[in-house]
Amino acid sequence: MSTILPRGWRSRPEAGWPKRGCEPKASVSRLRSGPSTILMNMTVHIPVLAGELIGLLDPAEGQTVIDCTFGGGGHARLVAQRLGPSGTLVAIDRDPESEERFAALAQELPCAVRFIHGDFAEALGTLAEEGVRADAAYFDLGMSSMQVDTRERGFAYSYDAPLDMRMDPGQELDARTVLATWEERRLAAALRELGEERHAGAIARAIVRRREHAPIETTHELVEVVSGAIPAPARFAGGHPAKRTFQALRIAVNDELGQLDRALPLAWDLLRMGGVLAAISFHSLEDRRVKRFLAERARGCVCPPELPVCVCGREPQATLLTRRAVTASAGELAHNPRAASARLRAARKVSDGDGSRRDVQRR
Ligand SMILES: C[S@@+](CC[C@H](N)C(=O)[O-])C[C@H]1O[C@@H](n2cnc3c(N)ncnc32)[C@H](O)[C@@H]1O
Repeated sequence: MSTILPRGWRSRPEAGWPKRGCEPKASVSRLRSGPSTILMNMTVHIPVLAGELIGLLDPAEGQTVIDCTFGGGGHARLVAQRLGPSGTLVAIDRDPESEERFAALAQELPCAVRFIHGDFAEALGTLAEEGVRADAAYFDLGMSSMQVDTRERGFAYSYDAPLDMRMDPGQELDARTVLATWEERRLAAALRELGEERHAGAIARAIVRRREHAPIETTHELVEVVSGAIPAPARFAGGHPAKRTFQALRIAVNDELGQLDRALPLAWDLLRMGGVLAAISFHSLEDRRVKRFLAERARGCVCPPELPVCVCGREPQATLLTRRAVTASAGELAHNPRAASARLRAARKVSDGDGSRRDVQRR
């Protein structure tokens, strides 16, 4: 894990630091629209549920905000615009390409900035050790459009490419290694639990049978194995037949659920009183974790109902800001179909859980 300060970084921007608007430049021709847009030769990630996220975080001048999944910086840019010269944005991403995007964007941002290259769970642990306190922290989970659209990274079943799927190419474990070394039972469990794949057993069996003759090296070789393993009617129902297998492999390679489980409590502990934690998830495995985590923090007394008075003394640490997950509007879906599976949840910290509840006044 490394922290970088971009070239020319100052702890606080000087007066007159150039501020630019956050809108995409109108003069750049839009070649393709969708979950990602290719502007000239560069894929840009369109931030999902951006207005809704900013509305919930409500970032203000002088605050410290942690973007745990910087990606292309779409959300970070909008947040930073609100923080002003006295605010601080801390950005985290495990993908070195995000680090490059950050270095470019940082020159335009009005606030103090810092980038940490690494897994968000470890990075949040480091911030905690440093005594950093934040007014908001947020996650926009999963892959960025740039990752999906870079064919050689092997995330997409639509391109033939080496089976890689590492968000951090410096990591040892890749998808090829999982397919080559995991036992059939472990493969089946991963496909079932991480991909919610009904034909997990048959697919795992087919993978093991195939690798006895030749290793599975490319995305299209894997698609072929999966398609051959599932019954014909299932091949044509419920989207691409390899969709769930690819999801499971990607989650396993990047330990996405383990990372989330470790990161949520760390992010929560970093929040100041009145601070907001928000997360955008793209599948039910993540959303369930976020929902449970926030609900648990918002829960008060846990005494059995037959007790006449509370003896546990437990009080809620959180107020939920989203009773139900926020989803994309029809307008957003029309220009970004990737937003269809996005679920946003958020909560505000109202107590440290040590009986020190204070009236939380926001600004
Ligand atoms: C959906 S993208 C974020 C897009 C970003 N919000 C934007 O507006 O451009 C998710 C990013 O999170 C990063 N990421 C996912 N899991 C991570 C983890 N455990 N630690 C650090 N970064 C992670 C990915 O590398 C990817 O760049």
